[in-house]
Amino acid sequence: MSERTVFHYQDNVLSCEDVRLDELASTYGTPLFVTSKRSLVESCREFESAFVSLPHFTCYSVKANYNLTVIRNFAEMGYGCDVNSGGELFRALKAGVPAEKIIFAGVGKRADEIAYALDVGVLMLKVESLAEIEAIDRIAGELGVMAPVALRINPNVTAETHPYITTGDSKEKFGIDEAGLEEAFSLLHRLKHVRLVALDMHIGSQIFDPEYYVAATTVLLDIFETAKSMGFAIDFLDIGGGFPVTYDARKPATPIAHFAEKLVPLLAPTGVKVIFEPGRFLVANASVLLTRILYKKRNHTGKRFFIVDAGMTELIRPALYQSHHEVLAVTRHESTVVADVVGPICESSDFFARQRTIDDAGEGELLAVMSSGAYAAVMGSNYNGRLRPAELMVDGKDVLVIRRRETYEQLIANEVL
Ligand code: LLP
Repeated sequence: MSERTVFHYQDNVLSCEDVRLDELASTYGTPLFVTSKRSLVESCREFESAFVSLPHFTCYSVKANYNLTVIRNFAEMGYGCDVNSGGELFRALKAGVPAEKIIFAGVGKRADEIAYALDVGVLMLKVESLAEIEAIDRIAGELGVMAPVALRINPNVTAETHPYITTGDSKEKFGIDEAGLEEAFSLLHRLKHVRLVALDMHIGSQIFDPEYYVAATTVLLDIFETAKSMGFAIDFLDIGGGFPVTYDARKPATPIAHFAEKLVPLLAPTGVKVIFEPGRFLVANASVLLTRILYKKRNHTGKRFFIVDAGMTELIRPALYQSHHEVLAVTRHESTVVADVVGPICESSDFFARQRTIDDAGEGELLAVMSSGAYAAVMGSNYNGRLRPAELMVDGKDVLVIRRRETYEQLIANEVL
């Protein structure tokens, strides 16, 4: 999904679908997340048309953007959800996702979270360690239920991406690697309250080369054969998420169809339903973070700064992963300057762009930090006493407040003096 089709200049003003972003900022204030509903729908269509020939079930990975309205949009399109905590499970259920369409993942689930998932009846819980299989069996036994589980394998494939978001390498904490498989299968045979329903993998995020998926899927299929020969009836093969999006026009993401071209011939012959867990692919380019320029300054070397009212508390990706986000002036200017775009937080890592050529917008004008739909608001914090911003959803000419701006009172609501 190209964000340029939903975020576009009209009369020199950046708009989302049919709504001008400057008008949204005047009405709702900044910092402000603005999400295009059409972008969500089109990303779904693009994903589904790539994999149309493969029997599959798509579970939106809610960690990318867990706003209730965003989750509900995907639920309305028939998607299930991948959740990573009791809190995300609660959100998915509140958004209207049926429990039987929810996969509960996570390398460190607490007993109360496991009990919650079993109690509501999720589609499956992923298991990531031998100790966790035993814990789930014990809790299921206490509740008098059978726990459907997916074995998350660690295929030992190191996908090329930022080191903080590669997960399929056996030196990382995720999944069970080759060394633990025999014991995992033997436990799953022996224990009375767990039933193995799926094999699962997730090798990382923002992965550009489909060959990493091919390598990991080949390992998964080998294990699938072993499991079958041991008498396990596997209902699903879960390939995880990780499909890439374009953040930087100079580095366009591999189209999703290229992943499908490689994966469908590998997976279709199994006759087993495939699960995908895309997060970023569905939401990253659906939102922008709108921010106002508070001050401009120049230091003694002539270096320029645009100091804006959003920061790493709203979008930590540049600080954490050195990730590139385009920054556009909401009102176009003829002249450009080279500047750092920085926030108000007391950290040097609080920047959106460094030495970037951008339109020479003035103080009081607006900038849009692009591709802010995934891992932005959800990774936000109250550091420096910051209030979480409002979030809007635009649908054609219509504007919906999907999260109200936090207040000072809410900031201290749980504290006891
Ligand atoms: N499934 C599992 C088990 C996952 O751990 C993840 C993401 C996904 C699916 C969805 O991956 P996606 O399709 O969004 O790549 N905060 C980082 C990304 C962390 C991804 C964590 N796991 C970032 O901002 O780049």
